[in-house]
Amino acid sequence: MNNGQGYVSGLEGVVAAQTRLSHVDGAHGELILAGYRVEEIAPVAPFEAMVFLLWHDRLPAAAELAQMRVELAQWRMLPTAACDLLRAAAAAQRPAMDALRMVAGVCDIDLPTDDSNDRRRDIALLARLPAAVAAYWRLSQGKTPIPPDPALGHAANYLYMLTGVAPTPARVRGLETYLNTVIDHGLNASTFAARVIIATQSDMTSAVIGALGALKGPLHGGAPGPALEMVFAIGKAEHAEAYLRARLAAGERLMGFGHRIYKVRDPRAEVLAAAAEALYATDGDRSLFELAKHVEATAVRLLAEYKPGRALQTNVEFYTALLLHGLGLPSALFTPTFALARTAGWIAHAREQLANGRLLRPASEYVGATGRRWQANATPTQLISFPSWQFPS
Ligand code: ACO
Repeated sequence: MNNGQGYVSGLEGVVAAQTRLSHVDGAHGELILAGYRVEEIAPVAPFEAMVFLLWHDRLPAAAELAQMRVELAQWRMLPTAACDLLRAAAAAQRPAMDALRMVAGVCDIDLPTDDSNDRRRDIALLARLPAAVAAYWRLSQGKTPIPPDPALGHAANYLYMLTGVAPTPARVRGLETYLNTVIDHGLNASTFAARVIIATQSDMTSAVIGALGALKGPLHGGAPGPALEMVFAIGKAEHAEAYLRARLAAGERLMGFGHRIYKVRDPRAEVLAAAAEALYATDGDRSLFELAKHVEATAVRLLAEYKPGRALQTNVEFYTALLLHGLGLPSALFTPTFALARTAGWIAHAREQLANGRLLRPASEYVGATGRRWQANATPTQLISFPSWQFPS
């Protein structure tokens, strides 16, 4: 059915799915996660409870929450093929997002192939990807990977596998608040990619790999690293205005600002700013938090001046950078850590798409040439020699 709307650049405003998972109100700056306001639930819920909420449309009873924690802990061990791949990716010094995308493809290698949408894949992906990121990071730093600790929850275990040190409750809470805040967000680019893939009745691993690819880009999940670099480059509050003016005058985008949907401050920025403030009050460099707040205020003011009418406000990535830095994560792991949270949302959307959706197949408007005619022998055939190839034993 064509509703006569015609081509819409960037699909802006096009409704391509119905979902019970999250509602984004860009005009009022509101994010609802399965019925709960993000400000209410993200700072207090365990991450496993949020996953259960998205996957089952209700919060878990105590026994169900305990069961989810056990299942995730059981699936954290990585298959040998994943370990080999991570070693090779670390030796090749690939960015962590590349390593994550590669390893996602072998996380289901020990699962039966007869049912490509076996629910164990959902758990295996969610449990193994953080273990893979942590192991990869240590390998890339010349360190030995740390085995998972089944006694620790999902967030705590990730921090433990990165450092080898059991994290403080404040750090675990900070990371859980982050993971909960970004777990799902309407039909963002990576979630849409996951839905498009699963809608062909492909498999969950393929959907997650496609979503990882979409998330990697700086216009989506790749912004927090550059946002933090910007704060560090500014260094002192009195340098902020000149630095930001120079970037905007050069036509550059300020990372961590602007959003397709939000025309007011992203509500996730509020939650993460509060979490960062709580963390930096006891743990970390408080002056960095103060500097970031000054940079934010200056950037919003200058964006209004340079891009009048665009309503460019702080997005989730700005305080993501600050919070994850405060938790001790290197900026190379900001986007992978975002992916670890969003994996739960991608899986929930993919399940919803499988249950209720149709093949996603929009139309295109042809704007190319017409009337061209094929002319035989127009291109001479070149002779190319290929190197011989042997599969290593
Ligand atoms: N800094 C400077 N100018 C900006 C910014 C920015 N951060 N964001 C948008 N603009 C400008 C554009 O240059 C454009 O100006 P013009 O019309 O004069 O050419 C105008 O605002 C509209 O920009 P679009 O790209 O059409 O807006 P869109 O809705 O497609 O983009 C996006 C949204 C990609 C997030 C954009 O705001 C951006 O690039 N922000 C910086 C990157 C970033 O922070 N990404 C993370 C987003 S949150 C997330 O995905 C989890």
